[in-house]
Amino acid sequence: MENTTAPNTHLAPATVVATAARPPRTQGSPVNPPITISSTYYSLGEPDGTMLYARWTNESWHPAEKLIATLEGADLSALLHSSGMAAVANAIHLGAPGKAIVTPRHAYHATLLVAHDRAKREGGQVREVDIANTEEVIAAITAGEPAGLVWIESPTNPMLEIADIPTIAKAAHEAGALVVVDNTFATPLGQHPLEEGADVVVHSATKYLSGHSDVVLGATVTNNPELQAELQEERTNSGGIAGPFEAWLLLRGMRTLSLRMERIWQNAAELARRLEGHPLVAEVSHPSLASHPQHDRATALMNCFGGVLTMRPVGGAQAADDLGTRTNIWLPATSLGGVESSFERRRRFPTEAPTVPEDLLRVSVGIEDIEDLWQDLEQALQAVHARR
Ligand SMILES: Cc1ncc(COP(=O)(O)O)c(C=O)c1O
Repeated sequence: MENTTAPNTHLAPATVVATAARPPRTQGSPVNPPITISSTYYSLGEPDGTMLYARWTNESWHPAEKLIATLEGADLSALLHSSGMAAVANAIHLGAPGKAIVTPRHAYHATLLVAHDRAKREGGQVREVDIANTEEVIAAITAGEPAGLVWIESPTNPMLEIADIPTIAKAAHEAGALVVVDNTFATPLGQHPLEEGADVVVHSATKYLSGHSDVVLGATVTNNPELQAELQEERTNSGGIAGPFEAWLLLRGMRTLSLRMERIWQNAAELARRLEGHPLVAEVSHPSLASHPQHDRATALMNCFGGVLTMRPVGGAQAADDLGTRTNIWLPATSLGGVESSFERRRRFPTEAPTVPEDLLRVSVGIEDIEDLWQDLEQALQAVHARR
């Protein structure tokens, strides 16, 4: 007896994450897809598109790939990659060799390193812009020799600038450039870049998608079959593939994506509101705040304000470093998007953009109780201040 899985097209994301990408409903079938641990498959004669070798495709990837595509509104399957950076590097290589890449000045630092490295090896410029300044972005796309690729992060990591994705995508396409959006910070529940004109969406699935700080994975998604084929070929040949167990962990994490994001977004906005008035905090930024320069744009274009905020404690970089020695719940750690709240001073990395303030803490808000989070942060701010 078979009962086909309910179609996902008009279901809310909260339902999609819980129900999509499950095995067909046959009597006695498991409700979760199995993990296939095999590098090779029984296969005779000409390759016929069935399973053949686990670097080319792997059935353990497919449920997570299908679920990410559904959430991003793509008809084609997403592709998993061994890390967010494997997905980023793969997507950057879609740009025509020798043509300029336009990037946010505050894109994730390793993304900028890859873009510059590519330009050094293959020619072409990297034009770094304030991605929130649409006029500046369009000027960079069209300046002299038009750009071949426009890279967007929105919100940016770590400065939380918000891009006008539809306007930038339109200008980029008129100039013949591809548009890639790194949607890691907003998640597919927060915005749908493909619907706003992006050609490719990239994720560090290490962050919110898997959500438990126990997996390193990436994903690319597109509705363009040629781009998907290029991304897939590059993944196969470069070998940056996901392990079957990691893919399963990602799918398991995504089952609670909607619940987690709901709590994370609520907690982040509430903490930003409280921190903004705190005498021991010199500056706080979060798109939910009316003081954020692109608050109106975020309100108009996104379904969320994101789970990351930034703050600059009174007392500068030393106070920012000391804060992590005084918290009991908040974790001083890099990365973001886990269920646990964490923060780090970004300029501890020499490769972080010099325009990021020395004392800026990137704060990843988790799912804990808001009063516990507030109390722990508050007492740590007071303790650091008292020691100064
Ligand atoms: C926005 C963004 N894109 C890409 C990456 C790279 O992802 P991964 O660490 O999974 O390689 C990160 C990592 O922090 C990120 O924040």
